[in-house]
Formats: sequence, structure tokens, C-alpha cells
Amino acid sequence: MIKVGIIGCGKIAEVRHAPEYDANPNAEIVGYYDVAREKAEALAKRYGGRVFDSLEDLLAADLDAVSVCTANRFHAENSLQALAAGRHVLCEKPMAMTLEDCEAMVRSAEEKHLTLMIGLNQRYAKAHVKAKELLDSGEMGEVLTFETHFAHPGPEGWTGQKNSWFFSKKIAAFGAMADLGVHKTDLIHYLTGHKIVRVKAAMTTIDKHYPDGTLIDVDDNACAIYTLDTGAIGTMQVSWTNYGQENNSTKLYCRNGVLRLYDDPQYSLIVEKPDGTVTPYALDVLTSNKEQTSGRATNTGVIDAFIEALQNHTEPVASGRSALHAMKVVFADEESARTGKEVEVRDSL
Ligand SMILES: NC(=O)c1ccc[n+]([C@@H]2O[C@H](COP(=O)([O-])OP(=O)(O)OC[C@H]3O[C@@H](n4cnc5c(N)ncnc54)[C@H](O)[C@@H]3O)[C@@H](O)[C@H]2O)c1
Repeated sequence: MIKVGIIGCGKIAEVRHAPEYDANPNAEIVGYYDVAREKAEALAKRYGGRVFDSLEDLLAADLDAVSVCTANRFHAENSLQALAAGRHVLCEKPMAMTLEDCEAMVRSAEEKHLTLMIGLNQRYAKAHVKAKELLDSGEMGEVLTFETHFAHPGPEGWTGQKNSWFFSKKIAAFGAMADLGVHKTDLIHYLTGHKIVRVKAAMTTIDKHYPDGTLIDVDDNACAIYTLDTGAIGTMQVSWTNYGQENNSTKLYCRNGVLRLYDDPQYSLIVEKPDGTVTPYALDVLTSNKEQTSGRATNTGVIDAFIEALQNHTEPVASGRSALHAMKVVFADEESARTGKEVEVRDSL
């Protein structure tokens, strides 16, 4: 049995971490810590386990691992403290607010031989898993170009608040780019198996306002052109101002055909071949933010993957080290958007 604690008991802990640990027969939630005690109490009431008065008290309990589900600004601090206490960590995305902090997290986990996993649930979505299989098998041939999107109406629908920390540069670092761009940047790296070596990005704030009517200080829309180490180019577009149906689609145009992912309401993967053959796969449906907050979340597979990695002493697919590349790219996106220049993605750690 893997004994876990949850740090930060807001929305993601409520709709994903706590219910998915609860549903996993090999996990037991020992306790919770939140600066807002009532949030921890609500989860304890529903899923069992103790409420702790401080992070130190939680980390001193009989635990193997923790989920870090606090706002972005606290990810590095909470994760480093948990790793220092000898606990494995599953930290929500985006990993941290600076590249230095991301690298410190990876270094700390590796030095202590502990697992650091990042909540990049897109890697575990069934159509993405199947697409990865097809790409790795060589059946599709080289990825020549791609487009990936993540566009929804913004975090207000998720948090239920008109003005949440998601709209604060000090607490979130970025807006749509950190919230959604991290997922899609990571997905391109993960699916193609290639690094993004150059970026040209634009970020803007056009439609989200604070209650006083001023525009928020993080981006509500972002776009990037990515160049892979193979020379292939493609685009990523993320938005908090899509007031229609959520768009979570990706298309990979390969030498031997096209992979369409979450691009059709019925078939989560469609494979088109040059001879005209079209193979649709009805694998799953990605739940939108609206569905998740109304209690219709499906298991993301993230918690099961974390528990499995801890039990088998294997590296999770969304390890901290593998997630580092997307963070480097996102920081390069920010630099490109700020300077108006194309930016090389530097390989550090
Ligand atoms: N993987 C995904 O697709 C996905 C989806 C949504 C959110 N997230 C990530 O999950 C994280 C949390 O988001 P959320 O939507 O649950 O936010 P939230 O505001 O609902 O929850 C955050 C919780 O952390 C608590 N908190 C803040 N600072 C703390 C501290 N220092 N110590 C302990 N508790 C603290 C708050 O009181 C709050 O209850 C964010 O980083 C977000 O980007 C990931």
C-alpha cells in the first residue's frame, strides 16, 4: 500500500487527485494540508484521512508520497520540502515558475533517488497513448508538420471565481501559456520523441479583466511556431477566450499519413492514410473543464501511473526530467513573445 498526503486541497485535488487515489486499491490517503483548513476538511470528510495543521506535520507523518496541488507559485517550495523529507512527489503542472526551480526539483529527486512526476495528464489520454504507439512503431513515418490546440473559456469556469490566482502573474507566472501551453508543448515533445529547438511565439491579453475593469496581467491567448530537431515545423495555439466548444485537438502530418487526435466528437483518434483509408478509433472522450467541475470527471490515469511507478520502482512516463523540456520551451516562448525574436531552446540540465 502506498501512503499519500495531499498538499493544497482546491479544485484539482477535489476532482482528480483525491478521487483517483481513493479509487486506486494500492493507495491510501493518510492526510491533507491546505492553508485554508476548511478545504482540507472537506476532502477528509469525503475520502478519509487526517487534516494536518502544517506542511511540516503532514511530511512528518507515516507517508510514502505527496501530491502537490497548490497554486503554481508554491510548486517548487512544496515539492523541494517534500523531497527533503524523503517523500516521492507528484506535482501539478506547470512544474514551477522559473527554470532554475524546475531544475532544482529534478536534481533534488535524482540525488535522493525519489520519484518526481508532473501532472501532465495529456500523456495518459487514451488517443495520445495509441498515437504514440503508432508513431514509435514507424507505421506513420516521420512527423513532417503538426498543429496542436487547447482553447476553452478560461479558468473562471474551473474555479467558479471571476478573479482567481490564475489571473495573477505573481502566483501563476503565465496565463493560458502556463495553464494550457505547457500541456500541448509537452505533448508535441512526447508524441514526436523530438526536442523543440527553436520557438517564435506571441502572447497577448485581449479579453480577461479584473473586477475593476483593467486587463489581467497574464496572457489570455498565446501562439507559437515550433521547430523540432528534425527540422519539422508546426504550431501551438492556446486560448482562454474560446466561448464555444472546447478545442483540445492535435493533428500530426506524417510521411505515411495523418493522425487526428480529439478532433472529432465521436472518434478520439482518426488515422488517414495516403491511399484514402480512414481508420477511426473511439477510444475515449476528453472531459471538458465544465464536465469535470460538474462531477463528470473520468479517471485521468495520472494517479494510477504514479502509484504504479512507486510500486514497481520504475520511472513514470511523465517524470520530472522528461517534463523539463516543455518548461524550457515555455520559458523560451515567453522570451520570444517579449523580445519579438526567434529564440533557441537551450539545453541546460
Ligand atoms: N493537470 C491539469 O490539467 C490541471 C488542471 C487544473 C489545475 N491544475 C494545476 O493544479 C494546481 C492547483 O490548481 P487548482 O485549480 O486546484 O487551484 P485552487 O485554487 O482550486 O487550489 C489550490 C489550493 O491550494 C491552497 N494553497 C495555496 N497555497 C498553499 C500553500 N502554500 N500551502 C498549502 N495550500 C496552499 C489553496 O488554499 C487552494 O485550496 C495549479 O498549479 C494548476 O495549474 C492542473
